[in-house]
Amino acid sequence: MTYKIIEHEYDVVVVGAGGAGLRAALGAGQAGLKTACITKVFPTRSHTVAAQGGVAASLGNMGEDKWEWHMYDTVKGSDWLGDQDAIEYLVRNAPKAVYELEHWGVPFSRTEDGKIYQRPFGGMTKNFGEGPVQRTCAAADRTGHAMLHTLYGQSLREDVEFFIEYFALDLIMDDGVCRGVTCLKLDDGTIHVFRAHLVILATGGYGRAYFSATSAHTCTGDGNAMVLRAGLPLQDLEFVQFHPTGIYGSGCLITEGARGEGGYLTNSAGERFMERYAPSAKDLASRDVVSRSMTMEIREGRGVGPNKDHIFLHLDHLPPDLLHKRLPGISESAKIFAGVDVTKEPIPVIPTVHYNMGGIPTNYHGEVLNKVNGDPDSVVPGLMAVGEAACVSVHGANRLGSNSLIDLVVFGRACGLRAKEVVKPGVAHKDIGKSAVDAHLARLEKFRTASGSTPVADLRLKMQRAMQEDAAVFRTGVTLQQGVNRMAEIYSASSDIGIKDRGLIWNTDLIEALEYDNLIGQAVVTVGSALNRQESRGAHAREDFPNRNDDEWMKHTLAWLDLSSGKVNIDYRPVHTYTMTNDIAYIAPKARVY
Ligand code: FUM
Repeated sequence: MTYKIIEHEYDVVVVGAGGAGLRAALGAGQAGLKTACITKVFPTRSHTVAAQGGVAASLGNMGEDKWEWHMYDTVKGSDWLGDQDAIEYLVRNAPKAVYELEHWGVPFSRTEDGKIYQRPFGGMTKNFGEGPVQRTCAAADRTGHAMLHTLYGQSLREDVEFFIEYFALDLIMDDGVCRGVTCLKLDDGTIHVFRAHLVILATGGYGRAYFSATSAHTCTGDGNAMVLRAGLPLQDLEFVQFHPTGIYGSGCLITEGARGEGGYLTNSAGERFMERYAPSAKDLASRDVVSRSMTMEIREGRGVGPNKDHIFLHLDHLPPDLLHKRLPGISESAKIFAGVDVTKEPIPVIPTVHYNMGGIPTNYHGEVLNKVNGDPDSVVPGLMAVGEAACVSVHGANRLGSNSLIDLVVFGRACGLRAKEVVKPGVAHKDIGKSAVDAHLARLEKFRTASGSTPVADLRLKMQRAMQEDAAVFRTGVTLQQGVNRMAEIYSASSDIGIKDRGLIWNTDLIEALEYDNLIGQAVVTVGSALNRQESRGAHAREDFPNRNDDEWMKHTLAWLDLSSGKVNIDYRPVHTYTMTNDIAYIAPKARVY
C-alpha cells in the first residue's frame, strides 16, 4: 500500500512527553531551537504522572544535607556500577533543578516555615551512611503528577510544538548519523517524517515486558527498540528493579514514601522482618534489599494470605490526618485495588517490576554512545536519550527511590544545554532521499498485513509470564537459560502473527503488534545479558553466583540484537570510577554493609 507521507523539519525532535522529554524539549525551546515533541499519549498522561513519593535533592530543609552525601548514597545504592562522573553531575545539579521546578509552579508540600517538605526514602543517608536523612522533596504522594503538569505548561510557553498521538516507528540513520524519526499518526494513518539535527529519545522503560509491573501499559520501551533496530547497543538490561510494594494482584504502586512516613512490613507471624535483614536501615534499606528480603520470607513459608504469597504493609498505626495530608493518593489506591482502609488494615503487597536501570548508553550530556573501534564512549551524532530510556548510568545496578524524578529533570536540562552547543538554529537538513524510510514502512506494512494464526495477545502473555518466572528477583543459570530458550521460541513465533484490523485509523491491533515487537527485542536482550553476568550485583541476584565480583564484573554490559536470528551479541564498557571534578570519588568496598 502507498502511505501518505508528510514531511517536517525541526532543529530538535524529542520523542516522548514524560518528565524527561518535556524538560529536554523546553530546554531546547529555551535555547531558541525549533523544537517538536512527539508523543503517543497526551503529555500529561505520560507515565511520570504515576510517580508518587518524590524527587531527591540535598536541599537540607529538614536537617543538614550535602551533595557529597547524596553522591555517596547513589554510588553505593548502584552497587558500584554507577558512573561516578554522571552521579556527581546529577547530585550537584539536583537542588538547582528542584528550585527551578518550584519557581515554575510545582505545588510542593511545605514545612511549617514554608520550605519544600522532604521525606526519608530508602538508601538516602546523612554523613556517608550514618543514618536516614530527609532528602526526597514531595508534593504529597503525587509528585510526578505535579511535575508533569508544570513541565507541560512551561514547554508550551517555550513554543515547543506538540505532535500528540503520534507513534514513533524508527530512527532515520545515515552512515551512523541520526537525521530524524518516522512516525505514524494514530488517528488517520498518515506517515510523518521528522527531519532533525538532534533526536532526543525520552520514551521511558519497558516494564510491560513483565506480567506484573507498576508501569503503565504504554511502557513498551519504544525508543530502546528503535535503537536496537538501528544497530546500536543497549546497556545493562539485566538490571530490572522490583519495587517492594506493588499492591498484591493489581501491581499498582504504593510509594516508598509510605515507609518513609513510618510504614513497616510484616510477615505471617506479625514480625517486622526487615529488622533481621537490615538492622540499621530496616524498612528503608534500598529496594533490591527489601525486595529480596520479602521474597525470602515468602519462600520460607512466612508470607501472608491464604496462599502465603505476599506481605503486609502497615500504615494503620499512623495518624489518619497524616495519611490524609501526606499519602492521600495511595490511601485511595489501596481502597480501590485492595479494598483496604489504610487507617484500619494493612495493605497486601508484593515486589513488582518497577524500573529499568539499563537502557540506551549515554554520557552525562545525554549524547548516545556506541563502542566503535574499541572506543566505548564514541558519540552517535544527532542522537540523545534521557530518562528511563537512557542508561547514563547514574543508577548502576540498583536505583534509589526518588533518584528517577531528579534524573529526568537534571539530564533533561543537560540535553537542552548540549543541544544549544551542538545545533545551530535553522541550518538546512542534508538531503538523504526518500528511500531512507523504506525499511520503516516495510516493517509497518508487514505487521499491518500480517495474516498468521497467532494473536499478538498470546505471544505477549507468553513473554510476560516467562519474564516474570525466569528473570525474577532471584535468578539462577538454570532459570535464565530457560528464559533465553523461551524468548528465542517466542521471538521466532513473531513470524506467525495475525492482525485482524487492516485499517489505518486508530488501529489498536496494529499498534499492539508494534509495541509487542518492541518489547520482545528488549526481553531477549534482558535474559541474554542476565545469563551472561555471572555475579550478583544490585537488582541482579544470582543464586549460583551470590557474591559481587568486582575483579571480573565491575563493567557495563553492552548488548546488540541481531534482528534476523534473535541472537544477542555482548561486549562491555568500563565503569567510570573517576568523577567529573575530582572533588570526591568512592571506591567499592569488598562487601556491602546495610
Ligand atoms: O515509591 C515511590 O514513590 C517511587 C519512587 C521512585 O521510584 O523513584
